[in-house]
Amino acid sequence: MKIAFFDAKEYEIPYFDRYGREEGVGFHYFETPLNGETAPLARGFDGVCLFVNDRLDAAAIDRLTECGVQVAALRCAGSNNVDLAHAKGRLRVVHVPAYSPHAVAEHAAGMLLTSVRRIHKAYNRTREFNFSLQGLIGFELHGKTAGVVGMGRIGSAFAEICRGFGMRVLAYDPAPRALSEAEYCPIDRLFAESDVLSFHCPLTEHTRHLLCTRTLPLLKKGVMIVNTSRGGLIDSEALLEGIKSRRIGGACLDVYEEEEGLFFEDNSGHILEDDTLARLISMPNVLVTSHQAFLTKEALDAIALTTVSNLISLFERGSCENELIFRG
Ligand code: NAI
Repeated sequence: MKIAFFDAKEYEIPYFDRYGREEGVGFHYFETPLNGETAPLARGFDGVCLFVNDRLDAAAIDRLTECGVQVAALRCAGSNNVDLAHAKGRLRVVHVPAYSPHAVAEHAAGMLLTSVRRIHKAYNRTREFNFSLQGLIGFELHGKTAGVVGMGRIGSAFAEICRGFGMRVLAYDPAPRALSEAEYCPIDRLFAESDVLSFHCPLTEHTRHLLCTRTLPLLKKGVMIVNTSRGGLIDSEALLEGIKSRRIGGACLDVYEEEEGLFFEDNSGHILEDDTLARLISMPNVLVTSHQAFLTKEALDAIALTTVSNLISLFERGSCENELIFRG
């Protein structure tokens, strides 16, 4: 089985090579992302493997099927970058629904603690032997309210961590699965009562811009926003507005709505065209990581293992429990 692996990064290749070799799946690595223009590179391959910022839209799907590609294996959970309706009957799509919810939940907690205790500032200061504490006053999480939007695998793991800090956990989820204890409430109440608001739901037409100019006034003054899910859940302009007006006390962002083409790449030698992102990054109370929350040894190992077994299931048994099927 030959798989064209798009948007390949050095850090993931050893994991895929290992499980690919064991199971007879040959990965050919392309650095370029997958989209309608690059899809013809997959000619002669049985399948493609793609990540969060590859674009499997109608054009890419048509090019791939013209090239004889039968399967697209997402090496991530979210599928908002895939036109599943167009893929139906043309290309079979599998994903990795869960690899390590703890990787993402721990990163969210890490960003939160870093921000509220100003650890990122202290790190920079002490490297220059500046041992002043001026401006480093933080606040304690103990006794505060964490609002979790989306109580699935990651949201539940984050809720457990918050409870460990002695926080009260409020949750909003239209289809809760009782993976972890929480007090469920309507989203407006969650917005009004949370000192920390963390997003863990998928990006869909219902969740796009959950935080926007309309919902901004509902937020508790000084709330810390944490987003490790998908950038599109938050209207970045509204977030900026909320920070400037001091309604939002800080933001920890592992994802950004316009991250495609920026995140995962070294852009340090370029002028950043995105003024909103540049302004957000310039704020003293905004912490940005570039879609890094999943990046642990454990998660990379699980992603590679599941991707290879998804491909084997589909090609050898004709079915796979992790197949994404459009039901619209
Ligand atoms: P999951 O499927 O276990 O949980 C998602 C939860 O969101 C479900 O309980 C669902 O009912 C809920 N939900 C759906 N619509 C909602 C709405 N309108 N409002 C509130 N909740 C809603 O998914 P999991 O594994 O917890 O992942 C969550 C998200 O995290 C993924 O969709 C993905 O976008 C993101 N993610 C980010 C990573 C990163 O590296 N930054 C890595 C992995 C996932």
